[in-house]
Amino acid sequence: MMNYTLSVFRGSESGEITQDQISRSLSSNEVLLEITHASICGTDDIYLQSSQALGHEGVGIVRKKSAGVRSVSVGDRVGVCYIQKVCGKCDLCISGWNQYCQERKRYGADQPQQGCLGDQAIWSAGTLIPIPKSYSSSHAAACMCGGATAWTVLTKYNIQPGQRVGVIGVGGMGHLAVKLSAALGYETVVFSRSFSKREDCTEFGAKEFHILRKEGLSDDGSASSRKFQPVDHLLVCSSAPEDFSMLMKLVATHGTIYPLTVSLHSVSVPLLAMIDRGIRIQGSLTASTDSIAQMLEFCNENHVYPKIKALSMNREGIERAFQSMKDGQVRYKTILVKDACDSE
Ligand SMILES: NC(=O)c1ccc[n+]([C@@H]2O[C@H](COP(=O)([O-])OP(=O)(O)OC[C@H]3O[C@@H](n4cnc5c(N)ncnc54)[C@H](OP(=O)(O)O)[C@@H]3O)[C@@H](O)[C@H]2O)c1
Ligand SMILES: [Zn+2]
Repeated sequence: MMNYTLSVFRGSESGEITQDQISRSLSSNEVLLEITHASICGTDDIYLQSSQALGHEGVGIVRKKSAGVRSVSVGDRVGVCYIQKVCGKCDLCISGWNQYCQERKRYGADQPQQGCLGDQAIWSAGTLIPIPKSYSSSHAAACMCGGATAWTVLTKYNIQPGQRVGVIGVGGMGHLAVKLSAALGYETVVFSRSFSKREDCTEFGAKEFHILRKEGLSDDGSASSRKFQPVDHLLVCSSAPEDFSMLMKLVATHGTIYPLTVSLHSVSVPLLAMIDRGIRIQGSLTASTDSIAQMLEFCNENHVYPKIKALSMNREGIERAFQSMKDGQVRYKTILVKDACDSE
């Protein structure tokens, strides 16, 4: 059986990024991809202190496939996402929620080699995402995780056109949440920690922009802050957990809060405030493969593109990408590109 050598980038106990090689063959239903584009997500930060091979959103070209694979052909351009392998048979896979596949934990534990930051990756054919012909690989790679997470919330939880949809935190995921929400016809309201992203958010389609600090909404004296109307749905896209007492004040009666921030810490929820106004709290993990494919079709048809900056897919580029994310400097997604010349 042919063995392939994959070059990957891993985290480490000290948080330093290391380069490593993995040697492995293709199992049944797997393909070998040449990775051309990958993006960095806030969740990668959690893996930086582990030996995990990094990267869970990217685009590659199928170079080899195992004998049984019919869904893709050699030469196809495909996307990879957080979900690496699914059983395809459990109730959740069948009902279009394969990000919650009942076999997922077992597969995760089986796959310490996961990661698409590198030159090649071996991925399960059943989780590859087709990319519309006229949608670029840079744009597709930048949508695969946070963008797809926002898309799932915006399309699968019964949000109605015209309803007020709030987005807290305008980063990689948040800026796509704003663009997608506006493109879907929702009245989109942004909450950010400073005014620096206000013009961008108006360009992305937001109708209102508010400053939100630890203590709550800041009254900057503008007409919109004086007349603030709570939102029906609130997507929390910040990189650190928010205070739920404060979130409750932003949401209308019978509204829903979607905490999307990944954190290993617990937060407390003011039960009385939640019960008193019938507020729902709905978690959501990334997206099913079907949902990601639908999002890319929608983005292609409606000209929705992430705002990206390209760096080279090498150790220096990856370190710069992580540092800019840590410093809050990214506007709004960094893409690592094979053979890029570190340009905008
Ligand atoms: N649920 C899922 O499946 C899923 C999928 C993808 C990502 N995530 C999680 O979503 C979060 C955001 O990811 P991302 O890729 O969008 O990260 P990001 O690009 O770093 O953006 C995070 C945004 O949060 C705000 N922020 C920064 N520091 C903050 C702080 N100390 N407290 C509160 N807000 C802060 C900033 O927005 P402003 O400047 O506008 O305030 C920043 O742009 C991460 O926790 C990530 O793990 C979850
Ligand atoms: Zn992610």
